[in-house]
Amino acid sequence: MAKATTTNSGIPVGSDENSLSVGRDGPLVLHDFYLIEKMAQFNRERVPERVVHAKGGGAYGVFEVTQDVSRYTKADLFQPGRKTPMLARYSTVAGDLGTPDSWRDPRGYALKFYTQEGNYDMVGNNTPVFFMRDPSKFQDFIRSQKRHPVTHLRDNDMQWDYWTLSPESSHQVTWLMGDRGIPRDWRHMDGFSSHTYMWINAAGKRFWVKYHFLTDQGNEFFTQAEGDAMAGEDPDHNIRDLYDAIKRRDFPSWTLKMQIMEFEDAADYRFNPFDLTKVWPHADYPLIEVGRYHLNEVPENYHVHIEQAAFEPSNLVPGIGPSPDKMLLGRLFSYPDTHRYRIGVNYNELPPNRPRNAEVASYAKDGPMRQFPANVAAPYHPNSKGGPDAASQSGRDVSGWMVENADLVREAATLHRDDDDFVQPRALINDVMDDAARGRLVDNVVGHLKNGVSDPVLERAVQYWRNIDKTVGDRIASGVGKG
Ligand code: HEM
Repeated sequence: MAKATTTNSGIPVGSDENSLSVGRDGPLVLHDFYLIEKMAQFNRERVPERVVHAKGGGAYGVFEVTQDVSRYTKADLFQPGRKTPMLARYSTVAGDLGTPDSWRDPRGYALKFYTQEGNYDMVGNNTPVFFMRDPSKFQDFIRSQKRHPVTHLRDNDMQWDYWTLSPESSHQVTWLMGDRGIPRDWRHMDGFSSHTYMWINAAGKRFWVKYHFLTDQGNEFFTQAEGDAMAGEDPDHNIRDLYDAIKRRDFPSWTLKMQIMEFEDAADYRFNPFDLTKVWPHADYPLIEVGRYHLNEVPENYHVHIEQAAFEPSNLVPGIGPSPDKMLLGRLFSYPDTHRYRIGVNYNELPPNRPRNAEVASYAKDGPMRQFPANVAAPYHPNSKGGPDAASQSGRDVSGWMVENADLVREAATLHRDDDDFVQPRALINDVMDDAARGRLVDNVVGHLKNGVSDPVLERAVQYWRNIDKTVGDRIASGVGKG
């Protein structure tokens, strides 16, 4: 026999189907508290969708270290032989909760490692670069990619208006318009930290690093036509693909490789190594293998474990620090702040976010939904009640770098000798893409521009591509009737 249905307080209810009424045909009564509970609960069933990366899916897994990189970092999760449980969430960026998985867009690539030193989050994308290099431009950029305030439609004219007035976007836009712009599914795409981070070893030596999570399934993509068809056939294609693969025990995996730069090399590297619109050429900094993760567990409840998952680049454990990349520094504030709004101040107590392998000993107190109060004997510091003390921990590093003695300014970072917005996207077109891929790039851009982009934005878009590469720019120009 089935269990009896209960209220949220565990009290058996009278009926699943009939509300309490005055006689069979009479009015309903306010004291049908079960009906009220059902309706009230339903009205509050959604947390707000993420302001970006709203549509996504994920799974739990394990990260395993395969190579000894202890000379570069003392972080516990990267020590030889270590296995660390983790959560991954993949997403599209600009789409709303219901938009198709196969639309052209960067893909979010968020990982949370439950380490013995607290949660470490690596919140990256499937592209190694981004659209801008200052966090004050992110909000404007996202507005240009989301819905138009009047029509409430996505608007290609807005997108190209923003991009063509922001030449530093050209590398990321070239990626986006190329084959990698529509990965076939999440299993068949790489992930990148994009940002440069700092690693610190046990002796206190610092390095600059970039993370590359290379898919062991191989990279696969959809052409524009295939992506459009899949958007109609199965808008949730990526969520379904990951779920099905794990359910049939075909566990997807990724190999982590790092680029590692000596701390001192940054100052006079030929371009700014903290510029998020640039990659570090592998010829300068080859990939060094670290380990591998695989996903093997579909969460028992999507809302609890994926919708309420809160990733934050500020979750950095000892041995890993930020870099002077201004985008990264801006993000360190943004994520915890948005979680307090989207989920609530105690979001870190929820199952996907609560540290699994480290004790929480913070002086945070109370707030809605608090379940695990720490330091109840003395919720203040200093105290004589045995409360935690930061000074008592050995090995906590302050991962810093030299800052010049300078005035406060609103200025771009100091230029390095080869800094240029168009050199790397040009190399991507000419050195990485073959003729067929270049052809698809041109077709994708022309198709996008023909869909609602008009002068003067269209003129600027043609010039933007000519600045990246004259030949490709000319082909795009003739494709949109500006030849
Ligand atoms: C999600 C802000 C740049 C990757 C988000 C969210 C915000 C945000 C507010 C929603 C978080 C939530 O509600 O849970 C920013 C700001 C940026 C920035 C202010 C620049 C200054 C980037 C970059 C990357 C990135 C450069 C990748 C390298 C992600 C990912 C998510 C996300 C993967 C989804 C996390 C998840 O799966 O829950 N971002 N973002 N963001 N962002 Fe950013």
